[in-house]
Amino acid sequence: MSEPVLEARDVAKHFPVGRRGVVRAVEDATLALLPGRIVALVGESGSGKTTLARVLARFYPPTSGEVLLHGRPAGRRGYHGDVQLIFQDPFGSLNPLHRVRYNLERALRLHHRTRDRAELERQVLELLERVSLSPAADFVDKFPHELSGGQRQRVVIARALAVRPKVLLGDEPISMLDVSIRLDMLNLLARLRDEDGLALLYITHDIASARYLCDDIVVMYAGRMIEGGPKEEVIARPRHPYTKLLIESSPDPGRGEDDRAVLFDGADELGEPPSLVSPPAGCRFHPRCPFAMPECEPSPPPRTDLGGGHWAHCWLHQKGRAGELESTTHAAALASRAAAAAEAAGAAGAGKEEGP
Ligand SMILES: Nc1ncnc2c1ncn2[C@@H]1O[C@H](COP(=O)(O)OP(=O)(O)OP(=O)(O)O)[C@@H](O)[C@H]1O
Ligand code: SF4
Ligand SMILES: [Mg+2]
Repeated sequence: MSEPVLEARDVAKHFPVGRRGVVRAVEDATLALLPGRIVALVGESGSGKTTLARVLARFYPPTSGEVLLHGRPAGRRGYHGDVQLIFQDPFGSLNPLHRVRYNLERALRLHHRTRDRAELERQVLELLERVSLSPAADFVDKFPHELSGGQRQRVVIARALAVRPKVLLGDEPISMLDVSIRLDMLNLLARLRDEDGLALLYITHDIASARYLCDDIVVMYAGRMIEGGPKEEVIARPRHPYTKLLIESSPDPGRGEDDRAVLFDGADELGEPPSLVSPPAGCRFHPRCPFAMPECEPSPPPRTDLGGGHWAHCWLHQKGRAGELESTTHAAALASRAAAAAEAAGAAGAGKEEGP
C-alpha cells in the first residue's frame, strides 16, 4: 500500500464564540489520503466537514493535532502547489471580471512561472480539454457568467489542476450543480484519480453519491469521526447506529429507480444536529440513538478496529452487543425503544394508581 500524501492526526478545531463560548467544530480527527484513492467524508450539515477540509488546506490552523504532507509537518511554503481545495459554489471562486483564459493563466503563472506566451496558451487549452471543456477554443474566451454552472465548476477544477497538485479536497463540489450533470462531474473526479493518481477527499452530505464515487468512507457526526473503512464494508455492514441510519434513509440503487434520482435525492430528514457549543457528553449521538446504554452518556466510546480497515466508535462493540445492529433496522429499533418506554411509563402509572 502506498504512503499517505496528506494526513490529519488527532486534529481539533475550536472557534471562540461570545464571551467565553467555544464551538467544538472538529475533534480527534484522524484521516489519511492516499494517491489514486478517493475518501468520502460524509455527514449532515454542521458536522464539521468544511472545517476539517479548511484545516487540511491550511486555511485554518488546527487548535491541536497536526497535518502532515508527505509525512512531514505541513509548512506554508509551496503547500498550495500540492493541496487544492474546491468549493461548493463555482461562481464565487472564479474572478467574474476576467475570461477563462485569465483565470487559468494566473494559476499557471503563480505556481510554475511559465512566461512563454505560446507555452502558456498551450497549457491553458490542455487544461480545458482535461476537464472535458472541448473544443477548448470555444471556452477560453468566455466570461464565467457565460458558462453554465457545470462548465464553471469544470473551469474551477482546471484551475486547481494548473498547479499540478497531489491532493484535491472537494467540498461538496457538485451540490450546487444541476442534477442532470452531477454524474458527469463525479465521473470527471474518478478519471482524475485514475489517470493522474490524485488523492481526493470528496465531501458530501449525501451518502448515495459517496457510494458511487469513493473507495473509502469516513462518517462524521457532530464534529467527530464515528466510523470509517472501505466503501463496500461500510455500506453493507454499517457498524455505528448513525451510519446505519444514514444508509437506511438514503435511496437504494437496488430498488431500480432512475439512476440520477437515486444518487441525488438522498433524504435529508435526519433532524437537527446537536449544539457544538455544549455538545452531549459521552457519545454525541446518544440523545438520538435507539441503542443507547447507560455507559453511552458519560463516556465517549473508544475506537474499535473491526478488521480490513473498518473501524467505529460505539460502545456496542465493547459490550459484545454489535449483533443487535445487524438484526434490526434503525426505524424498528426506535419503535421498540418507544414501546418499551411507553410500557415502563404505563407500569409506573398503574403502580401509582394501586398505591395507598
Ligand atoms: N468561523 C467559524 N466561527 C464559528 N463557528 C464556526 C465557524 N466555521 C464553522 N463554525 C461552526 O462549526 C460547526 C461545523 O461547521 P462546518 O461548516 O464545518 O460544517 P459542515 O459539516 O461543513 O456543514 P454543511 O454540510 O452545512 O456545509 C458548525 O456548528 C458551524 O456553525
Ligand atoms: S455509543 Fe451508545 S449512544 Fe453512541 S452510537 Fe453506540 S450505542 Fe448509540
Ligand atoms: Mg460544509
